[in-house]
Amino acid sequence: SHSRAHMSSRLGFDAVGVSTQNQVVVPEGYSAKAFVPWGTPLTGNLPVFFDDASNSGADQEQQVGMHHDGVHFFPIDVKSGGSNSSEGLLVMNHEYINQNALHPAGATTFADGTRPDDEVRKEVAAHGVSVIHIKQDAHGEWSVVHGSSYNRRVTGGTEMDIRGPVRGFSKLVTKFSPDATATRGTLNNCAMGPTPWGTYLAAEENWHGYFANGDAVRPKEQIRHGVGSASRYDWEKAVGGADEYVRFNASAVAGSAAEDYRNEPNTFGYMVEIDPFDPNGKPQKRTGLGRFGHEGVIFAPAEEGKPVVCYSGDDSRFEYIYKFVSAKPYHAATADGSLLDEGTLYVARYNDDGTGEWLPLSLDDAGFVAKMNAAVAAGSVGSIEFTAPFSSQADILVNTRLAADIAGATPMDRPEWGAVDPANGKVYFTLTNNSRRTPDNTNAANPQGPNPNGHIIYWREQGNKHTSTRFAWDIFVFAGEAGTETVVDGKSVVTLDDTNLFNSPDGLWFDYNGRLWIQTDGSDAPPYQNNMMLAADPRTRDIRRFFVGPVGCEVTGVVTTPDCRTMFVNIQHPRGNWPDAGVDRPRDATVIVTRDDGGVIGS
Ligand code: FEO
Ligand code: CA
Ligand code: CA
Ligand code: CA
Repeated sequence: SHSRAHMSSRLGFDAVGVSTQNQVVVPEGYSAKAFVPWGTPLTGNLPVFFDDASNSGADQEQQVGMHHDGVHFFPIDVKSGGSNSSEGLLVMNHEYINQNALHPAGATTFADGTRPDDEVRKEVAAHGVSVIHIKQDAHGEWSVVHGSSYNRRVTGGTEMDIRGPVRGFSKLVTKFSPDATATRGTLNNCAMGPTPWGTYLAAEENWHGYFANGDAVRPKEQIRHGVGSASRYDWEKAVGGADEYVRFNASAVAGSAAEDYRNEPNTFGYMVEIDPFDPNGKPQKRTGLGRFGHEGVIFAPAEEGKPVVCYSGDDSRFEYIYKFVSAKPYHAATADGSLLDEGTLYVARYNDDGTGEWLPLSLDDAGFVAKMNAAVAAGSVGSIEFTAPFSSQADILVNTRLAADIAGATPMDRPEWGAVDPANGKVYFTLTNNSRRTPDNTNAANPQGPNPNGHIIYWREQGNKHTSTRFAWDIFVFAGEAGTETVVDGKSVVTLDDTNLFNSPDGLWFDYNGRLWIQTDGSDAPPYQNNMMLAADPRTRDIRRFFVGPVGCEVTGVVTTPDCRTMFVNIQHPRGNWPDAGVDRPRDATVIVTRDDGGVIGS
């Protein structure tokens, strides 16, 4: 019908097929080009990248990091209300590392288990965030503005402040910060979120793996997050015993917390605010948004005089989706990150009847306090001993997952990115998959056990107010092979076919024209093949495959310039020699996608 044709007009490209090629595939009429790969010289004396990975730790501190993830483009004039689409700051996360590619011959461990200091230095430096000043020339070519004072590396070692209710809390006391106000570094930065005031929030996701705690009894602040006896990269075993690496040993080795790093893991698990326009500014860990495996954060559109609202997923099996509502109202002229330091953190319950509730994690909420006291009486929460009530809001926030367990939140199938539809305020979240959900512990919002392919959920806040504590939810689409059907209210709303079969949705982003971009991080076995990015029209659920990545990668992180004519897509952990087949190692990179006629991407 006429209306159907009109309604599906948001997607104007021909779907690409699945692919096993070791290159990026985009539709007819589009071009894709790798940009700012790992090791690109960025700051200081601009050390060139050596193909054999023999760059030092000091070099890596001045080069673009590894494992590109969440990314945002800040127009160079955004602070004065501009929307420049040919010059800006490309800010991106570097989630983790591939030691085999990072070093000439992989990671070195000496016979006694120690590791070379410079390898550890390089590994810490390959993590974090890059701020990259980029500019387009008259021919449309993008390049790095070398020498710009905006170019910056924030790493796993950069000094940062603790802000919000957890600042000064006894459980963050360390040798480095006896008053619990500071820490070093941000790690495992997965997705992110641009704030309404022009800064960048980097998420700390699987930070627990960086710490080793060999104590017989580990505190609940660590075990509920998976801190174990060994660390992923053994940084605490750096041979020189430098304090900046010893801190990854979270065992109690001295008489008091102020003499060792037993509390160092409690300084991770937050959203970290970086002002890309203040290259000397200290990053700020915004503890008001909770401590968990933060995938990213998505802000509702800010409204003058109203609280700021943002949503965050905890990407682990059976973890939760959270919402923060600021105590103070947003005023465009004065807004800054301190708005995130006071407010209410809620966790979501998705009722089986399609309604939902936001449950406050707060000692000011009588319902929460009653549940907490019941848990104390029982002596445990799940398998975790719980014998005393939370002492303060700081204690709740450091133990956000445990508080959410107590509140009775709905365990989800690994919440990854969220996105808010600019047209109507509906909130979408990817639930990437859950291999461990069994048929007897499903719920209506996570109805498949196991859930190997994932799904996307959405909801509308009651009264269309993001501050509301009630909402109505539904399923947007179930991922899977051709023939996978999504039935809503007894009606089939999507059936996947060869043009849009996908699995394990992860990245999710509404572009400035209301197209919903879905990125995958899943099985690359047939029929899915290499990971991909699809575009969706949220009104019609028309979904089309737009982009397929190279072999072995995940496709994660997407943003466009404000005019939607340049798109930046990140490729993480490619397996083969990509993007340069002549270099004998993979290099994570950003892909710049443009339309050959200069038009709007996806239209
Ligand atoms: Fe780093 Fe949840 O993906
Ligand atoms: Ca992810
Ligand atoms: Ca993922
Ligand atoms: Ca990843």
